[in-house]
Amino acid sequence: MPQFLNLSRAARLAGVTRGELQKKIRKGELKTFEGEVAVNDLLRVYPKAELEQNEMLDRVAMIKQRAMPKTRYGDGAQPVPKIIATRLDNLNTTLAQTKGALNAVEALIEGAVAKLKNLAAQGTPIATETILEIADWLEASSQERDSDPDRRARLFAKDAFLRIIAASVKVIPSGHEYFVEGTESILEASLRAGLSMDYGCTNGNCGSCKVRVLSGEVWKLRDHDYLLGPTERDMGYILTCCNTAVTDVVLEASEAFSPSDLPAQSIRAGIRKIQNLDDNLLLLRVQTPRAQTLRFFAGQKIKLTLEEGGSSELHLAGCPCDGRNLEFLVRRQQGNLFSETVFNHTGTSPIVLLEGPSGAFVLNDNSASPLLLIAFGDAFAPVKSIVEHAISIDLAESFHLYWFNDLAKGNYLDRLCRSWNDALDNFHYHSIRTAVDPEQLIGCIAAEGVVLGRCNCYVAGEKGAVEGMIAALTGAGLPEDQLSFESIG
Ligand code: FES
Repeated sequence: MPQFLNLSRAARLAGVTRGELQKKIRKGELKTFEGEVAVNDLLRVYPKAELEQNEMLDRVAMIKQRAMPKTRYGDGAQPVPKIIATRLDNLNTTLAQTKGALNAVEALIEGAVAKLKNLAAQGTPIATETILEIADWLEASSQERDSDPDRRARLFAKDAFLRIIAASVKVIPSGHEYFVEGTESILEASLRAGLSMDYGCTNGNCGSCKVRVLSGEVWKLRDHDYLLGPTERDMGYILTCCNTAVTDVVLEASEAFSPSDLPAQSIRAGIRKIQNLDDNLLLLRVQTPRAQTLRFFAGQKIKLTLEEGGSSELHLAGCPCDGRNLEFLVRRQQGNLFSETVFNHTGTSPIVLLEGPSGAFVLNDNSASPLLLIAFGDAFAPVKSIVEHAISIDLAESFHLYWFNDLAKGNYLDRLCRSWNDALDNFHYHSIRTAVDPEQLIGCIAAEGVVLGRCNCYVAGEKGAVEGMIAALTGAGLPEDQLSFESIG
């Protein structure tokens, strides 16, 4: 009987990203059955699956880790002994069941072969040839199954190891899948995976992260003040911020799919760092209190009001997977109190009120098409957010980033783009410093082999620049429904 793996598990075993696996499926090189991949098929497409760890996977993990510096991801934390013991016990049961099933199948094959040979020996004239043909086929199939038992065994050993260190979570009705690793909560793992499941306080007080466990076993990491009623407990409700997954679990949970699904939020936060990128642009790092992370979609903006006066609506420049550590780009503007205050600030960390988020310039995470991203100047902030989120969820087939910027060479953001370019085989970054006109840029895009009709395109910049770019892109064949744009300033 063929064995199947969900896509996330199959990708891990093959040592590739989920996006890479989906590309194979789209091309018809790998078949899926109800969203799962057969082990034999996986071994056929990735013959060295059990032996190699693909470097690309490591590099993507590194970028994710960089995008979420304050989480536990990648810190090497192992599951607690109770969880490891339960997972080992489950594996043992599965092994015993598999052995039993295998013995039954082997007995069945042997019995069928003997029976067919017996019939042939009796000389039934019509069916003799057919009978022998079936008997040969059964014998050959049985031998073929065992032709490379070592390879299969290594694959299953690796699968067993992965099942001990991580459990998979499937969310219904969206079908999203992700892994819970080490001692992280189900909520932390969902944020790392780029999902937007409901949550509020992250520490068991508000109940916003309540979901229903449809199958599998969870374990409570900490007690919580929010009380679940007896009926809710009986029905399998838990708080994702206070539980981790022991076995593979299926959850019934709601997720935000568009900006209108997010609640309006108001959070008092502290400015932790002000970093000059050049004389007229700085990077602002803001940190929210531990129990109040900001929920937003990649590409959105938020209103910041300084306690000491001045407010501004700015795009978030980071990944939504880290809602505590927020980044903004601030341009020097004479006469703008917010800008003047942060540019001239010295001394203690200012307090800022965050209100929002707002804006519909967001990443379409339903499509794996190539991403074409064009940013002008400091309008790079929402584009950076979109890139980091798309990388963290393995979304796009390829990335093509064109950034018109006059920032001094070697600045942090330019180095960051170059590090994406160096780390990911499917990432292509072009820093454009001269006054290239839109038509010339279209020529560069075409020369890179980008087919506009297949891309999801995001353009951000000052109004005039954005309008010129839109006209050139649509004129060159980019369908309007694949274009998102944001005029800033
Ligand atoms: S997020 Fe508030 S209880 Fe979990």
